Amino acid sequence: MTLPAPASTTSDSAARPDVPTVGFRLSGIGAALPETVVTNHDLTTTIDTSDEWIRDRTGIGQRFVGGTTAGLATEAAAQAMKRAEVGAEEIDQLLLATTSPDFICPGTAPAVAARLGLDCGALDIQAACSGWVYGLIMANGLLLQGQKKVLVVGAETLDRITDYSARDTGILFGNGAGAAVVEADPNGPGELLGWDMGADGNYVDILYAEHGGHLQMNGKEVFRQAVRAIERSAVAAMARAGLGASDIDLVIPHQANINIIESAWKRVGFTMEQTGMRLEEIGNTSAASIPLVLDDMLDSGRIQPGANVMFLGFGAGMTWATAIIRWSGEIRP
Ligand code: UT7
Repeated sequence: MTLPAPASTTSDSAARPDVPTVGFRLSGIGAALPETVVTNHDLTTTIDTSDEWIRDRTGIGQRFVGGTTAGLATEAAAQAMKRAEVGAEEIDQLLLATTSPDFICPGTAPAVAARLGLDCGALDIQAACSGWVYGLIMANGLLLQGQKKVLVVGAETLDRITDYSARDTGILFGNGAGAAVVEADPNGPGELLGWDMGADGNYVDILYAEHGGHLQMNGKEVFRQAVRAIERSAVAAMARAGLGASDIDLVIPHQANINIIESAWKRVGFTMEQTGMRLEEIGNTSAASIPLVLDDMLDSGRIQPGANVMFLGFGAGMTWATAIIRWSGEIRP
C-alpha cells in the first residue's frame, strides 16, 4: 500500500501546534454483553454483603459473566463495522485493549482479526481499565501515519480472574466488550482535540493478578489514586485542547465506582449531568466499560454532531488516559 503524505493541519489545530490532525471520526460503535446476569442479590449467597451496601459504596447493581474475550470482542467489532458500513478488507489495524486475554500467549487480537476476516496488523494493549482510551489515542497516530481505518476494541472476561467470594473485588467486576471504527476524515469537522496518557508503576501492588490467580486489591488506595489520576489526566487533556470543564458536552469515565467519579468531579468541575454512566447495569468491565457506555449514549441520543466528548480511563498500573473528541461520528436515529 502506498501511504499518502500526512494531511495538513486544519485551521483549528493550527492554534494547537502540538495536536496535528488528519481528522478523527468514530464512524461505527458496537457492544456485546454475555447472557448471564449476576445481581447483587445473587452475590449474597457467596459473599457476606447486601444489595444496599454494594449500591451505596459502588453504584453497581449487577454484572454480566460468561463468554470469551475473543468472542465478545468479535461480536462488538462486527457490529461496529456494520454500523460504519466498513468491510473487513478496509480495516488497516486492530487494537484490542484487554486485561483478561484468552491466553497469556498469543494475544487475543489475532484470533479476533481472523474471525472478522481482517488482513492487517493486530495486537493487544494491556493498560488495564485505561486500555481502550490508550488505543483510541494510538489510533490517531496510525491515521497520521497514513492508515485510513483502525478498529479499537475493549473486551474483558474478568470473571476468570475474579474471586466471587471476595468482599472487595467480588462485588465489582464483570464481562463485556465495546468497539469503534476510527477513520481518518481530513475534510470533516471531527478531531482529536486533546489527549493525555500516563502511568505510575509505583502502584503495581494496589491492584494486580498473578499468573493463574485472582485480582488482589487495596480498595482504599485504588480509590485515592484513581481520584488523583482522573483530576491530573482530565486537566492535562483539557489544557492541550484549550478547553475548560464547562466546554465538555459529555464525559464518559471508566465505570469503576460512582463515589470515585463524584469525588473526582468536585476537583475537576464536572457535573453528573455532563456524565455518561452505565455502572449500575454492567459493573466494572475494565477496558470495555467506556465503549459500552458510548454505545448506550448513542442509543439514547445523548451525542450530537459537533459535541465535545471526553473519554477518561484510569486503572491498574496505575495507568490513566484521556481523549477529547469533537464528534462527527455515528449518530443513531
Ligand atoms: O478499576 C478500578 C477497580 N477498583 C476500584 O474501583 C476499587 C475502589 N475502591 C472501592 O470501590 C472500595 O474500596 C470498596 C467498595 C471495594 C470497599 O469499600 P470501603 O469503604 O473501602 O470498605 P472497607 O473495606 O473500608 O470496609 C468498610 C466497612 C467495614 O465494616 P465496619 O468495620 O465499618 O463495620 C467492612 O466490614 O464495610 C464492610 N464491608 C462490607 N460490607 C458489605 C467491606 N466489604 C463489604 C461488602 N459488603 N462487600
